[in-house]
Amino acid sequence: MSLKVSRRRFMGGAAAALGYMGLKPGAGLLGATRPAGLAPLQQANEYDSFAKLSSNENPYGPSDKMLEAMNTAWKYSNRYGYPDGNIRRVIAEHHGVGPENILLGAGSGETLEVVGHTFLEHKEKVIGVTPTFRTVYGTATNIDADVIELPLDDDHSQNIDLMIETTRRNYRDVGLVYLCNPNNPTGMIVPASDVRRLLDGIPEDVPVLIDEAYHHFIEDSRYETSVPYVLEGRNVIVARTFSKIYGMAGMRLGYGIAPADLIQQMRAYSTGSVNALVKWGGVAALSDPEGEAWVKKTTLDLRKKTVAELEAMGYECLPSECNFFMVKTGRPVQEVRSAFRERGVLVGRPFPPMLDFLRVSIGTEDEMKRFMAAWKEILPARAATGNGNG
Ligand SMILES: Cc1ncc(COP(=O)(O)O)c(C=O)c1O
Repeated sequence: MSLKVSRRRFMGGAAAALGYMGLKPGAGLLGATRPAGLAPLQQANEYDSFAKLSSNENPYGPSDKMLEAMNTAWKYSNRYGYPDGNIRRVIAEHHGVGPENILLGAGSGETLEVVGHTFLEHKEKVIGVTPTFRTVYGTATNIDADVIELPLDDDHSQNIDLMIETTRRNYRDVGLVYLCNPNNPTGMIVPASDVRRLLDGIPEDVPVLIDEAYHHFIEDSRYETSVPYVLEGRNVIVARTFSKIYGMAGMRLGYGIAPADLIQQMRAYSTGSVNALVKWGGVAALSDPEGEAWVKKTTLDLRKKTVAELEAMGYECLPSECNFFMVKTGRPVQEVRSAFRERGVLVGRPFPPMLDFLRVSIGTEDEMKRFMAAWKEILPARAATGNGNG
């Protein structure tokens, strides 16, 4: 009789055996001494137990259709030149552009790095606001390029006039303008008219990277995607991700959409390290509008409910269009964050200079209940201010 044990049963059995024996893998049993810190299983258990509202993830993960598609792709996990569901062509068709306008990345984080390397390699400057998503700034610093960080306006919106003026003033040294729309961590959009004003207001040979990671959550009709600028042949790169609405942050898939000559330049810096499963999952995601609509509605309903509760307690929240929002606690964020962690809830890190604002990602209904329960212990209700928005 053959002793065939499926890999899943084997892994499950090994974990169960360790559990029965009260042993932690890594505590000598596996023959290796581990560095100080939690053993992997303990680490995973601790992680799993938290309400994870710190990284703007989708708490539901991929839809059933996506999981099914990814499961059929396991058979390619031992191959190189496997059928990939025509992911690049499918994405291109989704946007009405050509495959030559798409560059895949292992998450849009890779796309942002690739854009940074491509356009800042000669020690040029990148211009954008602070606080924002900092990957491009990190790339710039790593390669000795300069970052010009512009403050947000008093209402926490991005100051487009200042961005135009700064770009013009530094024109000869500017390699890239970065516009995160909507902005992370504020969650606030840049209206389409302002994006146009920016593109029309700066020299047309300055590339503008427009990060639309949270595009799918937006309801505000003043927002529009910037993909049409690519079709116009403008010097625009739009970054998109499957990490947020499609729930695949751990699987890593994102892409840039840009005129073919820019994609060609960027290709030199790309790693091509996208895996077989996520390619098939990505194809399925784009043909699952019901799954997408469900995540959007569930997330936005929970965001609105949570914001309304906080405003009723007298706390100001910024007008987010994303799967997260910022609330002004009036207390140092690091201290507030630790108090939440002690109660099993992970919330956003500090975003200088907004050090008394807390960024909260929208989790499941249960996670949001845990968040509100912790909030009530940490931050007492205040006298409500007018419309609750003050
Ligand atoms: C604005 C923004 N851009 C890009 C990313 C990168 O996401 P990923 O690399 O998972 O696609 C994030 C992740 O939080 C983000 O907030």
